[in-house]
Amino acid sequence: MNLRKHLASEITRLDGRITFVDHLAGNAEDVTMAVAWYPPDDAFDHYPNLKAVCSIAAGADSIVMNPSLRDGIDVVRVVEPAQAEMMSGFVIWHVIWHQRRFATYLANQRDRLWKRLGPRAASEVPVGILGYGAIGARVAADIARLGFPVKVWSRSAKPTPDGIAGFHGADGLTAMLAESEVLINLLPLTSETRDILSSDLFNRMPRGGYLIQVGRGEHLVEADLLAALDSGQLSGASLDVFVGEPLKPEHPFWNHPGIMLTPHDACDVTRPAVGKTILATAEAVEAGVRPKDSVDLGRGY
Ligand code: GLV
Repeated sequence: MNLRKHLASEITRLDGRITFVDHLAGNAEDVTMAVAWYPPDDAFDHYPNLKAVCSIAAGADSIVMNPSLRDGIDVVRVVEPAQAEMMSGFVIWHVIWHQRRFATYLANQRDRLWKRLGPRAASEVPVGILGYGAIGARVAADIARLGFPVKVWSRSAKPTPDGIAGFHGADGLTAMLAESEVLINLLPLTSETRDILSSDLFNRMPRGGYLIQVGRGEHLVEADLLAALDSGQLSGASLDVFVGEPLKPEHPFWNHPGIMLTPHDACDVTRPAVGKTILATAEAVEAGVRPKDSVDLGRGY
């Protein structure tokens, strides 16, 4: 198979994002498959016979929400266990950062202050996870193995193994938040989950809670986070994703004492996994079948 014929775009790195530059096939009508990441609004209008668009990451929100995506085009995302493992390690580090009060120890070290704060057992620090897909399931299992009480929330009911309590729906969210000292956001971005991390949500957590935000920047109402940190409703937050990336130098998050931030680097898919997904999608398009790991466009993930 000549893959080039099937790819609608050549991939170009631009500020850490990838955008369409041009199609490689001779005629736009010949293009049946595209590879995209934050494509321009009219990207798919140029290809009347497009059957599938492949994301180059786990998230496909920038494609699913693209105004030129039309019925009959499947959106495919990369699903890779190694990415879930990498995310899990990242999140665990931040859970323990909060549990063991490392931010305070770091500040005390700078002040040459010898002050024992007393360790807290993992069993004393309940963790709630928003989102229970492939990555959420791995993160939940790993955190539970370390002894933290773990609860997970998803839009609809999902089975969970022993030791992980599952919640769903609006009432389930309130119940889980009430018992989540640490809250980890792993939700996909959809019209329903945009702005979910708001004052209303923070106020339903125990006072002094901690947020680990590794979903999408648009999940978070940034002003509400600053208010929750300033009032003490939240004691801190680890942020890896932002509404505007790269984060502007003047953004208040950079200097906030309660915030630890990283530049959307919690985890990534590997190149071989992206290549495999592109190839499998091209084969499915050629065979006229729905590609594996296609997004449910009704749900948005
Ligand atoms: C990263 O943001 C991803 O969607 O994999």
